[in-house]
Amino acid sequence: MLRLLLLALPCLGGSVLAFPARDPGAEPVGIVGGQDAPAGKWPWQVSLRKFNEHNGQWTHVCGGSLANRQWVLTAAHCVKSPRTNLGAWAVRVQVGQLKLYDNDRLTKVTQIILHPKYNVSLSAKGGADIALLKLEAPVALSKYVRAVTLPPAALSVPEMSCWVTGWGNIKSGHPLLSPWNLQQVEVPIVSNERCRRQYQQVDLPIREDMLCAGAKFRGPCQGDSGGPLVCNMKSTWLQVGVVSFGACCGLPNYPGVYARVSSYVPWIRQHVPLQP
Ligand SMILES: *[C@@H]1O[C@H](CO)[C@@H](O)[C@H](O)[C@H]1NC(C)=O
Repeated sequence: MLRLLLLALPCLGGSVLAFPARDPGAEPVGIVGGQDAPAGKWPWQVSLRKFNEHNGQWTHVCGGSLANRQWVLTAAHCVKSPRTNLGAWAVRVQVGQLKLYDNDRLTKVTQIILHPKYNVSLSAKGGADIALLKLEAPVALSKYVRAVTLPPAALSVPEMSCWVTGWGNIKSGHPLLSPWNLQQVEVPIVSNERCRRQYQQVDLPIREDMLCAGAKFRGPCQGDSGGPLVCNMKSTWLQVGVVSFGACCGLPNYPGVYARVSSYVPWIRQHVPLQP
């Protein structure tokens, strides 16, 4: 029987799991197992920044996506958790960037709305790991800046292939290296039943408002939290997930766990109007 080791390190803000033995498989590169994304392919991707007093830089902490010109969708644990408590003034957003920190033009955030069911002490693993950030002003749209399409609330995501993007670690404890090109990786959707059976072994409940996607050595890692999981349905990219937590990172049989966006569309629409 495989024994799982619980580490005291954060992994995607959620609970942390790691196999004591190294897997001899292929070395992952990228987000985990990813590759450089081309410019303009994921124009809704944003980088969430927090001021770092040590180097005076607004440092990348999480991903996010543009829900419309003035609102960013991200994970609640990116701004509030037992380890993090960021006010709107402490967060900025970079839109339209391919290489992190390349010509930063940050946008201020004026309001943070956490989902009311998000439990700060449980963080990502309690579910409802979703938050909205209101930008100071609507961003200018371009070839590189565009809002993502949200799915209908009734969408049931089939077991298809989708994509997750971010500037997070390329494996546990290994940050993406300069020039920090946005990474993309294709990941299969995994049914909640299968995902639940797997995570049951480490006592992590997979709830209905969560969605799983990933394969061996493919998926998000620390720093990708809050970023979008998108699926191409009828030629439209729909954001079906928000990166929430996982086993660190891309472990065989442990898919990445996402907030299931369709469960939260009515709530998102209360705050974020549809805009052309
Ligand atoms: C959050 O979860 C903890 C642990 O399960 C529980 O004790 C607490 O009551 C919850 N808080 C809220 C506001 O539901």
